This record gives sequence, structure tokens and C-alpha cells, in this order.
Amino acid sequence: MAILVCGGAGYIGSHTVKELVNTYEVVVLDNLTTGFEQLIDPKATFVKGDLGDSAILDDIFTTHDIDAVFHFAANSLVGESVGNPLKYYRNNVSATLVLLEKMIEHGVKRFIFSSTAATYGIPDTDMITEETKTNPINPYGRSKLMIEQILADLANVHDFQYVVLRYFNAAGAHESGEIGESHDPESHLIPIVLQHLLGQCDKISVFGTDYETADGTCIRDYIHVTDLARAHILSYEGMAGGKIANKTYNLGNGAGYSVKEIIETCQQISGKKATIEYAPRRAGDPAALVASSDKISGELGWNPAFDLNAIISSAWAWHSK
Ligand code: UFG
Repeated sequence: MAILVCGGAGYIGSHTVKELVNTYEVVVLDNLTTGFEQLIDPKATFVKGDLGDSAILDDIFTTHDIDAVFHFAANSLVGESVGNPLKYYRNNVSATLVLLEKMIEHGVKRFIFSSTAATYGIPDTDMITEETKTNPINPYGRSKLMIEQILADLANVHDFQYVVLRYFNAAGAHESGEIGESHDPESHLIPIVLQHLLGQCDKISVFGTDYETADGTCIRDYIHVTDLARAHILSYEGMAGGKIANKTYNLGNGAGYSVKEIIETCQQISGKKATIEYAPRRAGDPAALVASSDKISGELGWNPAFDLNAIISSAWAWHSK
């Protein structure tokens, strides 16, 4: 039995592959548009190709005995999705439909889907649970919510099960120090701050200081990428063992940190001082996003192992290397 990881050369996908190969045979499908081949663990079989390529999927599903698909392959920049919605609906929705059609055709019935806090939009609560109303405010969040809804429809009529995992802010690097967070161009707060502290850019921009938060900057819930990886494996094993099916879970630490607090922690861990520029708000940023992950904790025993210091320390170790 093997697991197909779509998007296994990306940040979260590659960290999950690194955990999976300890126990499972893994096939990675990635077109390398945003991922990097060197992030893929050498124990996995790598197929370079598009998610929406039926012939490649036919080949994978007939060559390997695939028991489940972990689907990380997506575009995930909120701002870009506002400017280029068709890219997001084509890559995140249409291509995923081809994957789902091929799974149904080949009788592959377990699916773990990378979803996002962006499905909630601007929540009307300080602590977001899975019951909080979804109301995405950008095409990225809508593209993810559309697939969530399609999965529920499929599970109604086909021999098909899914787990949707709504990530909050993924961060940190693998404890081996071999892989970490890298995007091109980089837009995420923690890597930008660490790159600046390493002298790779002149200053950091803080986007917005007039939010209704204690220090005026946005609050996010940062979760270590290895904690996310473990949640995928627990979800798969829960489904394969008949314990759960057709579930949606939040994945966060349950603690919010402001942009200023993140910069402060990065300075403490690195022992270096940042040059900060206060800039206008970035379009589409909600003031605060903090997750309750009680549901997955209660149902699957998942609890994050890494707090903010451990997350930033691991990222600093990798970036410094
Ligand atoms: N920020 C800055 N300066 C920077 C970069 C970011 O002030 O140079 C701020 C942002 O405005 C935001 C916070 O830092 O307030 C975190 O920003 P990130 O870009 O690191 O992360 P986001 O919260 O925007 O996005 C993440 C995921 C998305 C997902 C979203 C869900 O990367 O894929 O969470 O809310 F959609």
C-alpha cells in the first residue's frame, strides 16, 4: 500500500513526506512550479507532472497500489488570488477535480485535503472552531471551500472518505535541519524577518498598525510544520482504521501572536536587531485568526508539540544554515 502526495515538493508537503517515509511507501506528484525537488525525501518515488494530467494519474494509480491521496498541491497567496482569480480556480479547483475523478475511477477512496483558515474570512469570534461560519473573502479561500463542499458531495454517493485540515499559519523547519520554509518570492512573516536578520534584505515592513488588537498589528496562530505533518498521518490512520470519516479539523496552537511579538521573538532567538518600517495594511488581512483545535485533539489525540519559541528556533536554525 502506498500514499500519493500531491505537492510533496512544497513546504508542508515535503515535511509530511519526510514523516511518512518512516512507515509508508510514498509517491510524490509535483510540477515544481512552486516546489523544489531537493526538498523531496529520497526514499519517496518522484513523478514530475501536473495534478490535472489524467494520463499521469492513470499511470500512477495503475503502477502503484495507492491507498490514500494527501493533496497539498495548490497556489496559496491571498493577494495573488485577488489579482488573478482564474489561476486559483484553475489550479486549485479544476485540477483537483481531475484528481478526484481519477481517484473515483481507480477506486482510491481516502483523501486528506489541505485547507486553510482563509475559509473563515473575517470571523466573528476570538477563537475559531470548526462550527464558526465559513465566509471566505478572497478567491484563494473560496477555491479551498469549494473543494471542501465537493468532497462532502462525493462522500454522499461514492465509496470515498475524506479529512479536511484547515491550517492556520504554518511555520518552522524540520528537526533534521535538512528542510525548511522557502518560497520564491517569499511573502510569509517569519522567513522574511529571519532573512532580514541574516542580512539578506534591508528592512522589514509591518503591514498595518491600526488594527483592533492590543498593539495594533495583526494576530495569527503559528503552528509548526511537523505538527501539521503528524496531523495528516493521524487523520489517515484514523480513516484507514475505521475510527473517523468525512471530518473537518482546525490545526493551530490556540495562541495568537501579533506581528510585533513575532519580530520581538525572532530578535531574541537570533540575538540580532531588526530595522522596522511601519507600512499600510496589506489587502485582505483579517485582524486576528486563532484556532481552537479541540476537535482533532479529542477525536484523534493530536496536540501540537512545538510552541512559538520552538517554531522560531527551528526556523532560525534552518535559515542560518
Ligand atoms: N506581515 C507583515 N510583513 C511582512 C509579511 C507579513 O507585516 O513582510 C504580516 C501580514 O500582514 C499578516 C501576518 O504578518 O498580518 C502574517 O502574514 P503571512 O503572510 O505570514 O501569513 P498570512 O496570515 O497572510 O497567510 C497564511 C497562509 C495563507 C492562508 C492564511 C490564512 O500563508 O495561505 O494564513 O489566513 F490563507
